[in-house]
Amino acid sequence: MMMAGILERYKPLYGFSDTFPVVSLEEGSTPLIPALRLAQCLGVPGLKVFLKYEGLNPTGSFKDRGMTYAVSKAKEQGAQFVLCASTGNTSASCAAYATRAGLKALIIIPQGKIALGKLSQALMYGARIVEIEGNFDQALDVVRTLGEAHPQQLAVVNSINPYRIEGQQSAAWELCDQLGQAPDDLFIPVGNAGNITAYWKGFLRYQAEGRISTLPRMMGWQAAGAAPLVSGAPVPNPETVATAIRIGNPASWQGAMDAKTQSNGHIGAVSDEAILSAYHCLARHEGVFCEPASAASVAGLFEAASQGRVKPNSTVVCVLTGNGLKDPDNAIAVGTKAVQRVTLTPDARAIGDFFELG
Ligand code: F0G
Repeated sequence: MMMAGILERYKPLYGFSDTFPVVSLEEGSTPLIPALRLAQCLGVPGLKVFLKYEGLNPTGSFKDRGMTYAVSKAKEQGAQFVLCASTGNTSASCAAYATRAGLKALIIIPQGKIALGKLSQALMYGARIVEIEGNFDQALDVVRTLGEAHPQQLAVVNSINPYRIEGQQSAAWELCDQLGQAPDDLFIPVGNAGNITAYWKGFLRYQAEGRISTLPRMMGWQAAGAAPLVSGAPVPNPETVATAIRIGNPASWQGAMDAKTQSNGHIGAVSDEAILSAYHCLARHEGVFCEPASAASVAGLFEAASQGRVKPNSTVVCVLTGNGLKDPDNAIAVGTKAVQRVTLTPDARAIGDFFELG
């Protein structure tokens, strides 16, 4: 099969003209991996669990699906700069696609809270970066203000840009294509709430197109220290180890609520401990390495199963939004606690003894 980015693959659904300047890194086409051990651990009879591993996109997160469309549109409209606020992944994706398009990326990030891999990507792709003494929500406020002040020059590529959501819908289409149907439940981490909004839009569109006959329940998960959609009010000082979803006032609040209500789903909170435990479990038992925020979907699945919310014989998909390599600091902290690691001289005997080879 010829690989192509999501805009080319789903062109009939997107409906842009042949002259549209597609900016692509061949994003999408990510694997849907069966998680047999995880399914067994959950203790729900006949449950089938799949992982939609979005960490294998070109910049290592799902953001590339929306960025291909938003940056293509910025190019079409003659923008000079693309601008975003980010907890890390949006900045990496924005910087890569801007470079690809020959545009300049301007990025605003919360100081000291960006995972190392993400920051190194944005730097390498050549973005201009400002760290603010503030959080993501404040960074997004600055982006909105600048975007309104310089509409000709700047294209804002946060998910308040509708083309981001349009592009990200493709993940829902793709996983239905892979499964041959819609799942019964979709478990997904929620931060700024663009992605849950996009998936729901995608499922509805596929149903309208006659490609699926049922719709999943949308099961969204926030980190307990950054769970405004659960408490019902913005969180002024969000905190969580899952820095990607350290967001107190999601831009797509209403979209997330509509997805939950219309799908008869649920938006819940999971503790940092539960997130790190799911993060570790996925790597150790399934060989799938995602970043902490992504593991909120699997922590949510454990939580829902323990509450009896997961139906026997159902098929569920957990979205793993970003690659584990994004956040080496958390991986080393969690991994070092669990695994014996020593430094030895290059002596085969001593090393053999350490490995207990007998
Ligand atoms: N998972 C990861 C790895 C993310 O980077 C994000 C968001 C989310 C989940 C949540 O998705 O915001 O659509 O609800 N990251 C944004 C960023 C905020 O700036 O990279 P959402």
